[in-house]
Amino acid sequence: MQLERILQSQGFGSRKECRAMIRHHLVTVNGEACANPFAEFSTTGLHFSVADEAWQFQAHATLVLHKPAGYECSRQPQHHRSIFELIPTPLRNRGVQPIGRLDADTTGILLLTDNGQLNHRLSSGKRNIPKVYRVGTRHPLTPESIANLLAGVQLHDEPAPVRAVAAEQIDSTTLRLTVTEGKYHQVKRMLAATGNRVETLHREQFAGMLLPANLAVGSWRWLSPDELKPLEQQ
Ligand code: URA
Repeated sequence: MQLERILQSQGFGSRKECRAMIRHHLVTVNGEACANPFAEFSTTGLHFSVADEAWQFQAHATLVLHKPAGYECSRQPQHHRSIFELIPTPLRNRGVQPIGRLDADTTGILLLTDNGQLNHRLSSGKRNIPKVYRVGTRHPLTPESIANLLAGVQLHDEPAPVRAVAAEQIDSTTLRLTVTEGKYHQVKRMLAATGNRVETLHREQFAGMLLPANLAVGSWRWLSPDELKPLEQQ
C-alpha cells in the first residue's frame, strides 16, 4: 500500500495532509526515513513513526482503557470530560467507539474499537457476554439481597426480572457481581431493587478479559492478538 494511504488508514488525516507530513520528513517506516508519499510497503508487521511517535500498522484499532471516574463515554459529554480525551488523535479520527458504555462515575475496563462488527457482537445483550463488577454499597449486604440478585429482580420498565449470573460477597458492603446484559444503569438499578444503593462501581472483567493489572488509571493500550482472538470468537 502507498505510504500516504497507510497513514490515512491509521487516522493521521486526509491523503493530502498525510502526503504533506511525509514530504516534510516527519515519517519513518520500519526504522528508515521516507519522504516519498507514494512509496509502497507491505502493511504486515509494519512499524512507522510520525513526528517521532512510534506506531504499528493495525487493520482495526481495538484497545483497552482503564476508565477513570469523572469521564463520560461520549464524544459530546454533557457534564464531565470525555473518555476520548484519553486516547490519541489518530485513534479518535479512526472512529473508535466504546464497546458498551460505563457511567461517568464507574471505573475499570472499557474496550474501544473501530471494528463495527466486533462492537456489535460484544455489546449485544443477546450474546450473554459476562461483565464482572466490584460493587461498593451504602448499606450492608444481606444473604437475602444476594439471593434476590441471583434469582432476578424486577427493574422499572423491564418486562422480565433481571438476574446476576454470579454474586460473591467480599465484605459487608462489597460485592463481586457478574451480569450478562448491558442495560442502562443495570447494576445500580439492580442494587436499588434490593433496597440498597451503589456507592462505587468498578468493572474488573469484560467478556472474559481482566483489566490489565499494570494499566494505570486513565491509560490505554492495544489489545494483543492473543487477547483479541477470544473476543472475536465470542
Ligand atoms: N451498571 C451500572 O449501573 N453502571 C455502569 O456503569 C455499568 C453497569
